[in-house]
Amino acid sequence: DMGGHDTYMHKEMSEQAEAVDRVLRGRIDDRFSTVHLGGLNLDAREARGVRRIKILGCGTSYHAGMIGAGLIEELARIPADAEPASEFRYRNPVVDPDTLYIAVSQSGETYDVLAAVQELKRKGARVLGVVNVVGSAIAREADGGTYVHAGPEVCVVSTKCFTNTVVAFALLALHLGRIRDLSVADGKRIIEGLRKLPGQIEEILAMEPEIEKLAQEYAGAQSMMFIGRVRGYPVALEASLKLKEISYIHAEAYPASELKHGPLALIEPALPTVAIVPNDDLLEKNRAALEEIKARSGRILAVAHQHQEKADHTIVVPKNEDELDPILMGIPLQLFAYHTALAMGRDIDKPRNLAKSVTVE
Ligand code: M6R
Repeated sequence: DMGGHDTYMHKEMSEQAEAVDRVLRGRIDDRFSTVHLGGLNLDAREARGVRRIKILGCGTSYHAGMIGAGLIEELARIPADAEPASEFRYRNPVVDPDTLYIAVSQSGETYDVLAAVQELKRKGARVLGVVNVVGSAIAREADGGTYVHAGPEVCVVSTKCFTNTVVAFALLALHLGRIRDLSVADGKRIIEGLRKLPGQIEEILAMEPEIEKLAQEYAGAQSMMFIGRVRGYPVALEASLKLKEISYIHAEAYPASELKHGPLALIEPALPTVAIVPNDDLLEKNRAALEEIKARSGRILAVAHQHQEKADHTIVVPKNEDELDPILMGIPLQLFAYHTALAMGRDIDKPRNLAKSVTVE
C-alpha cells in the first residue's frame, strides 16, 4: 500500500521525520545527558576497553557507516572507520581483540555482510549489528546491537533507512562518548540537536517543489560530480549513488580536497557539480573549491546552510549541530535524485539490474 504516493520511494522519503522520531523514542536519558540502547550487550567497562571500531556494510549502509565512524570519532574519540563488507571479507583482515566490529544492514540479509560477521565471530571478535529488519540473519548472528526502527522499506533504493541508520550511529556515538570523555554539556548539546531533527526533516521535505524544479534543470546531464569534505564526503557518496541507481546518470563522488589532484580536469559547463557546503569550520575550504569549479565554468548546485555566491543554485537546509548536519544534508539530494529520475521517465521503484537485498555472493 503506497498510501497515496506514486512510488514506494516517495512514500518512504516522506516518512523520515516519524522514522527518526521512532529511533529516538524512549532512548534519551536527560538526567545523565546520554542515551540507552537496550540490546547492545556492551557494559561500561567493556565500552571503555574498545580501542578501535570497524564498521562494515554495503552500498547505502556502507555510506551510513562512514558517517557513523565520523560520529564515533568526534563524540567518543575512538578511532573508527568503515569499509565495504565485500572488500573486508576477501582481504584476510587482521582481526584484533580490542576492536569492536559493527555490521550495518537494512535487510539484515546481505550475504557479504553476513559472511564477514561469521568470519569475524569464528575468529573470536565481538560484532554488533546496526540493522533494520528485526530477527534477520545478521541481527541473529551479532553479539548485540541496535535496531534502526526505520519501519519496512520496500523500494530497492534505500532512503529512510539511511537516515535512521545514521541517527542510530549518533545515538551509539553519544552513548560511547558519555561513557568515555564527552562532557555533560556536549551530551546535552547533541541531545538537543537530535530532538530538532524530525521538525527539520519536515522543513526539508516541504522544499520538494523547489527541488523538483532544480531536478528538471539538471535532468539532461550526461554525468554529475558530487563533492564534500570530511562530514560532507559520505553525503556526497550517498547522493551520487542515489542518482546513479534511479536516473542512470553517471555520477562520481570525490572529497572536495581531491579535485585538484585529478578530477578537476573533467570540469566544464556540461558537467554539473553538486557540492555539500555546511556552515562548519571547513566552510572557507569548501568555498574555495566552488571558486575553482566556477573558474572552469562548471555549473554548481550547493546544499548549504546559507546562499552560496559561487553556486548557480543553493538548496538552503536548516542548521543543526555540526556533527549532526550530515543527517539532514542528504535528504534534499534524495528528492533531487527522485525528481531527476522522474523527469527522465525512469521506473523508480524497480531500477534496472538491481534487487532490494543481495543475498548471494
Ligand atoms: O540491506 P542492506 O542495507 O545490507 O543492503 C546493502 C545494499 O545492497 C543497499 O544499500 C543498496 O546499495 C541499495 N540499493 C541502496 O539504495
